[in-house]
Parts: sequence; C-alpha cells; structure tokens
Amino acid sequence: MRRHLREREEDRDLTRVICELATASRYIINSIRTGELGVAGTSNLYGESQLKLDVLADRIIRKRMTHTGVIASIASEEDGEIQIIDPDGKYSLAFDPLDGSSLVDVNLAVGTIVGIYKGADVLSPGREMIGALYVLYGPRCTLVYSTGNGTHEFAMNALMEYTLVQENIQIAEQGNIYAPGGTRNQYTPGVEAFVSHLEERGSKLRYSGGFVPDINQVLIKGHGVFLYPHLKNLPRGKLRLLYELNPMAFLVEQAGGAASNGHQRILDLVPEGIEHREPVFIGSKADVAKVEELIRALES
Ligand code: F6P
Ligand code: MN
Repeated sequence: MRRHLREREEDRDLTRVICELATASRYIINSIRTGELGVAGTSNLYGESQLKLDVLADRIIRKRMTHTGVIASIASEEDGEIQIIDPDGKYSLAFDPLDGSSLVDVNLAVGTIVGIYKGADVLSPGREMIGALYVLYGPRCTLVYSTGNGTHEFAMNALMEYTLVQENIQIAEQGNIYAPGGTRNQYTPGVEAFVSHLEERGSKLRYSGGFVPDINQVLIKGHGVFLYPHLKNLPRGKLRLLYELNPMAFLVEQAGGAASNGHQRILDLVPEGIEHREPVFIGSKADVAKVEELIRALES
C-alpha cells in the first residue's frame, strides 16, 4: 500500500497517516480475533483490567495518530468532544474506531471508518475531505481508501501487509441489491415507495447490520444501494455524518456512485456538531436519484 501511495505521488505526511492507520488496524484485528471480548471495567483471566473493544480500538488509533506529529485535531465516535493535538498540525481526522461493535459477539463483520481533512477543522462539509478509508474486519481483513483519485481495495496478507486487490473500483448506474436499515413500519411514503419499487424490480435483500460490510458489498459487487432513512419515529435517521456518512460518501462518489440524505448530497451538508445524524441513501447513482425523486413527489 505504501508503494501505491508513493507511485501516486501523495504527500509524504498523508502517506504516513494512511500507513499508520493501516498499522493500527493490525492491532485491532488481533484484539478482535483473540476473542478477549472485554467488557469495560471488568478484568480478564490474569486480573488485568480489560477494555471494551471499541474503546481499545479508539486508543490504538489515537495513540498512533498522535505520534505521527502531523495531526491537528481528532474527532472520534468514542469521545464526546474534538481533541486538539497540535493547532498547527497538517491534517485532522474524524473516525469511528469500531463501527458495528455490537456485532462482535455474534461474529459478524465490523470495521473502522476514517475521514481525513486538511487543517484543524473537522466541522466543515464532507466535500472538504482530502481522503477517506475504511478497514473491514471480516473473514479477510481489507482496507479501502481514496485520496480523491479513485477508490482502491487492499487485503491483508499473512505478513499483515496490505496488498492491492483492485484499483479504481466502479459502481454501476443501477444495482440489484439493497441494504435497508430501520424498521419498515416506520418508513415514510417516499422511502416505502422506493423499497417497493426495488422489490418489484427483483432486487435482493443484503443487510448485515454493519455499515462497513454493507457498504463494502455495494462497492465490491459494484452495484446496489444502502439506506438508513429518516423514520417516522427517528426523523434525523441513525447514522452519524462525521464518523460514518462523510467518509463513506467520499469513497462511494470516488467510485462513481452517489450519496444523499434524500434531498441533498451528503458531502454538501454543513455539520451542526460532532453528533450530527442524517438519513442516508448511498450507492448506484440512478437508485439514489430514484429515491430522491420519490421523496420529492410524496413527501413535500
Ligand atoms: O454505528 C451504527 C450501526 O451499527 C451501523 O454499523 C449499522 O449500519 C447500523 O448501525 C445498524 O443499525 P440497526 O441495528 O438499526 O439496523
Ligand atoms: Mn458506528
């Protein structure tokens, strides 16, 4: 992966940040695989106090990122506030250290999601990001990144190094898989019409409950749509703009797909704060356009 970044003449410090994130993921996958499913505040077999995996993942990433010496600020889903590391730092990060951590006990895939910004401000619209990546801890450990020149997939080998699997991933205009979050009896008319439309078209249901594997399926299969819509009882949706939606929107757009909140491009939204949640429709362009059209027609 380092070679890939070097060949693309990425900034040396940015290369460093991405490679350090890749290294952090080795420790995270190890913690997941060794099965020490620690509960915060309890101790393990040896009487050492254990950390919950998501807290542990947060510490691993935070520590490595601080040591790069180029980070201005960090916003993590595990933290209630933005941590300033060095106001003159070159980059800032917004990340979800272990997304879907409630799936660890049932042995389903989980992931790390990271958005990278220039300067100290992570509360700017996602279109200001200069890079994004996720790591998927599944049967294989894979990493997908973009620095604005396409979206590329790497897989961890036996030496725990990431080697290239696929360059310039492309998402087709329309797909035949869909991953719908939220309970259907809470869907609004536009969303309900969209899901009915997909069903009539013969789209196949693919929802694991983990945002990273569900988005990865759309990206790697090269078609389809993921939605976690606004619900009658949850009008702002569930997923978080900073830690989850912006990085994924960046990666999907770089692969030729689209990401919308039903009215507007995700990457154009101005974050109201680190807790900001938004509905999301993300994946094949024509599918995202279709749901926007139905919401416009049936919900305004
Ligand atoms: O972090 C939120 C998350 O766990 C995502 O990984 C996933 O897409 C979503 O929530 C699943 O939500 P639900 O359990 O409501 O389907
Ligand atoms: Mn999450």
